[in-house]
Amino acid sequence: MKIISHRGASGYAPENTLAAFELAVKMGSKNFEFDVHLTKDGKLVVYHDYDLKRPAGRELVIARLNYAELRKVNVGNRFGYPFERVPLLAEVLDLLTPAAEWINFELKNDGNVYPGLERELVEFVAARPGIREKSLFSSFDYATLKRLRELDAGARLGYLGHNLKTALLLPAIMRAKSVGAVNFHMHLRLAYKLHVAMIHKAGMKVCVYTVNKREDALKMERIGVDGIFSNYPDILSKKIIV
Ligand code: G3P
Ligand code: MG
Repeated sequence: MKIISHRGASGYAPENTLAAFELAVKMGSKNFEFDVHLTKDGKLVVYHDYDLKRPAGRELVIARLNYAELRKVNVGNRFGYPFERVPLLAEVLDLLTPAAEWINFELKNDGNVYPGLERELVEFVAARPGIREKSLFSSFDYATLKRLRELDAGARLGYLGHNLKTALLLPAIMRAKSVGAVNFHMHLRLAYKLHVAMIHKAGMKVCVYTVNKREDALKMERIGVDGIFSNYPDILSKKIIV
C-alpha cells in the first residue's frame, strides 16, 4: 500500500509549502499529493483553498491575484516555521524530483474558476522530462476531469468521490470509468472492504483520504486499499500515535 504524503508532510510542517515537501522527501516519501491553482497572471501554484482567508484573515482570492502579490502572504507560521509562502508548482517539482515515484496533481477548479488550468498543467507536465509517467491528475470536479481527458487521451486520471454514500458509489464508479479514470479516491468514511472490492472489480485502484491514525492505516491495508493519503509520511512506523 502506497503512503502518499498529503500536502507534503503536513502533519509536521505547514501544508503545501516548500518546507512540507522538503520534509516529506527527507522522511523518505516517494508518493506525493498536492493541490493546484492558477493565479491571475497564469502561474501554476500549490495551495489547498481557493483563497487565503485562513492564514491572512481577509479575502485574498487566488484567481484575482498576481503571483507577486500572492507570494508576500505568510501561509505557514505553524510548527515553529516563521514564514512560508505559496510555492510555484515548478518549485515544488524541483524539490520532489528525483525522489518522487508517483505524483498526484489535484486540480482545484470547481465551476471552472481557472479557465485554461487543465491545459496549462498538461503542457507544464509534458515539458518536464520524466514527470508525465509518474503523474496522476485528480479532481473533485467532473468537468475538470473531462477537460483533462479531451486534452490528453493518455493522461492518468483519478476520480475524487465527493460526499459519497453507498447508494451513490455505483453511479460514481460508472462516471469514473466513462472518463477513463485509473484511480478512484474516496473518503475514509466510505472505505469499506465491499466498496474497495467494487472499485477493484471495475478495474481501478483505490486510494483513501485522509488517513492520519495508524490503526486506520492498518485497517486500510487489511481491506486491500492501494494507497492512503496521510499528513504523516511515517504513519506506519512512528511511535507516537496521533
Ligand atoms: O486528493 C486527496 C485529498 O487531498 C482530497 O481532499 O480537500 O484534502 O484536497 P482535499
Ligand atoms: Mg488535495
